Amino acid sequence: MSEKRRIVVTSALPYANGDIHLGHLVEYVQTDFWVRFQKMRGNECVYVCADDTHGTPVMIRARAEGITPEELIARSHAAHLKDFTDFEVAFDNYYTTNSPENKELSERIFSAAEKAGYISAKSSPQLYCEKCGMFLPDRYVKGTCPKCGAEGQYGDSCDHCGATYGAEELGNPVCTTCGGTPSVKDSEHLYFELEPQHAYLEKWIPGHTTSDISNKLLEWFKEPLRGWCISRDAPYFGFEIPGHPGKFFYVWVDAPIGYIASLSNWCAAHDEKLEDWWNNPDAELYHFIGKDIIRFHCLFWPGMLHSAGFKTPTKVFVHGFLTVNGEKMSKSKGTFVNARTYLDHLPASALRYYYACKLGGTTDDMDLNLQDFVTRVNSDMVGKITNLASRGAQMLNKNLEGRLGTLDEEGRKLVEFARSRAEAIAANYEARRFSQVPVEVTRIADAANEYFDRREPWKTVKLPDGAEATRTTLTTILNVFRIIAIYLRPILPSYADKVAALFGESPYVWDDIAKTVENGTIGAYSYLATRIDAKQVEAMVEKAKVKPAESGEVAHESRASKNKAKSTGHESRTTDHEPPLKPEIAFADFEKLDLRVGVVRSCEIVPKSSKLLKFELDAGALGTRTIFSGIRGAYPDPASLVGKEVVFVANLAPRKMSVGVSEGMILYAGEPGVSGGVLTPFASAGAGTPAT
Ligand code: MSP
Ligand code: ZN
Repeated sequence: MSEKRRIVVTSALPYANGDIHLGHLVEYVQTDFWVRFQKMRGNECVYVCADDTHGTPVMIRARAEGITPEELIARSHAAHLKDFTDFEVAFDNYYTTNSPENKELSERIFSAAEKAGYISAKSSPQLYCEKCGMFLPDRYVKGTCPKCGAEGQYGDSCDHCGATYGAEELGNPVCTTCGGTPSVKDSEHLYFELEPQHAYLEKWIPGHTTSDISNKLLEWFKEPLRGWCISRDAPYFGFEIPGHPGKFFYVWVDAPIGYIASLSNWCAAHDEKLEDWWNNPDAELYHFIGKDIIRFHCLFWPGMLHSAGFKTPTKVFVHGFLTVNGEKMSKSKGTFVNARTYLDHLPASALRYYYACKLGGTTDDMDLNLQDFVTRVNSDMVGKITNLASRGAQMLNKNLEGRLGTLDEEGRKLVEFARSRAEAIAANYEARRFSQVPVEVTRIADAANEYFDRREPWKTVKLPDGAEATRTTLTTILNVFRIIAIYLRPILPSYADKVAALFGESPYVWDDIAKTVENGTIGAYSYLATRIDAKQVEAMVEKAKVKPAESGEVAHESRASKNKAKSTGHESRTTDHEPPLKPEIAFADFEKLDLRVGVVRSCEIVPKSSKLLKFELDAGALGTRTIFSGIRGAYPDPASLVGKEVVFVANLAPRKMSVGVSEGMILYAGEPGVSGGVLTPFASAGAGTPAT
């Protein structure tokens, strides 16, 4: 093995304002695999995380519950840590962003950036609610879209036409907390200027993340980079900005600094110096994050660190979102499952094993298919792998005093084969291709099962002189199984530790693969894993079901940053939205729509987009229209639409999209990809004629 590496690893800090769910665990579990692997290889690796505690949602929720924000975040911290511990996610430190270390570091980084000339101040109009006594974040105000007139839109962007705007531009704004009418007030805000680091960041990004992500980010670099608004007005649960009384750091400023603060807190407890870990050029630093928070980690964060003279991350590892049974997690369908609800019904190891099977180290979304989950765990983890130990060890204990023998020629070959996969498996762990580990391991288990069945130890053990042959067979099986357990330890830690105990060994490190266990005595076999039942899954789903009225999500301010026009990878993720009925509209509003019928001339998948279809419509007198529509999920075979008549809005302002200009909107009713379809006239009216 090469020299010992010094590695700092983080997972994104979960919001204190919500429960840990199976989507979050995609991230924490894979980070944990990687960290445990690094530790087994003998590297010095520290895994830090914390609760992300600041911001408006925590403040408002605490008010609603009649407790202090501090009480609320203490409660979340305990619950989160318990969930993680029970899922065997082993942080070296799980801290909080509301800490003295974080306050000090946030002040230090801000002041350094300010001194270096990266901070500017600008006054801008904002919505202020008198009743609530606060400026309203974008997601706490609704009103009429200034571009298309759709009502009930949030303060940052319109769900209806996709326009982005400032909250103060909304018509008839309403405070979503108290229902009052906010007024427009000027307020001065601080901006972190990114343009001075244009060249630096343009150069930094490609080397620190994958090319799909960096290409997306680099599109913004064709123009000057906009400043990022980093202050919020009091009252705000967070840190006051030094030298700017009444102004607080926006939560996304002190959240990533929370990584350093958690590390600093760990250092203090372990007699280490922060400088040797964060700003040490020989130490590596990795962030695991989901694809919705790329902008914060690959643009603002390196910008902030660099401006303040701090080391930037070695790599940002980005993963996709979890879907369940091929769809977005849904509260009404019971597939939005909290960590605790899962644990009340099923073992953590089963989910860890299944996630490993599905994680390929890319940005693609990952599906938890509940039926496949049961099958995979039962047939592979239990049937193929664990059975080797349960049959082998129990037979040895029962019939042969638990004493191992030595390997014969055939056994040695099989063990050698298992051992020969070590470096390939290690390379897969290192590259986060976790899905290759179960593939490799089941291949070894298949060979061992084939050997077991061929040698028929359950028969030889009954022969008068069959004891030694049986002992040889079982010694081979148990040696192969032991190597498999070492390979799986990052994924199934407590499982592997029980295997080590069975052989009377200390918890495994990677180099233990080289050892053969012969002639010793094994301990009692203790339960490693049992089959799971589809009924347990059904009960969990039933428990997770929320009636539609309760399923509304609390708005997250983070989802609506001030740098709105330039968002990337900013897809919504957690819940399905059974959308509430949109507010009533006047007949005059309806009359504005020019609905027409067009004939689909061509309909194609848009490369690199999971949702879009590109339509060419023959719109009669209007000529040909190109329209992009996000309904690919509903039409796996888009060519089937060719020749169909569809209804479209002909007078919608053309919309520039990254894939081209969309000249209208095809009408669709239902949930794309789930139910419904394009609207098509019952009586054929001919292309390009008004539908009404
Ligand atoms: N608090 C911020 C992160 C601040 S980091 C300085 C945040 N918190 S979060 O609780 O919403 O998400 C935490 C992590 O979990 C993020 O990396 C996010 O992408 C990930 N996931 C949350 N839901 C997810 C899925 N449904 N699927 C996969 N990952 C998901 O963002
Ligand atoms: Zn209000």
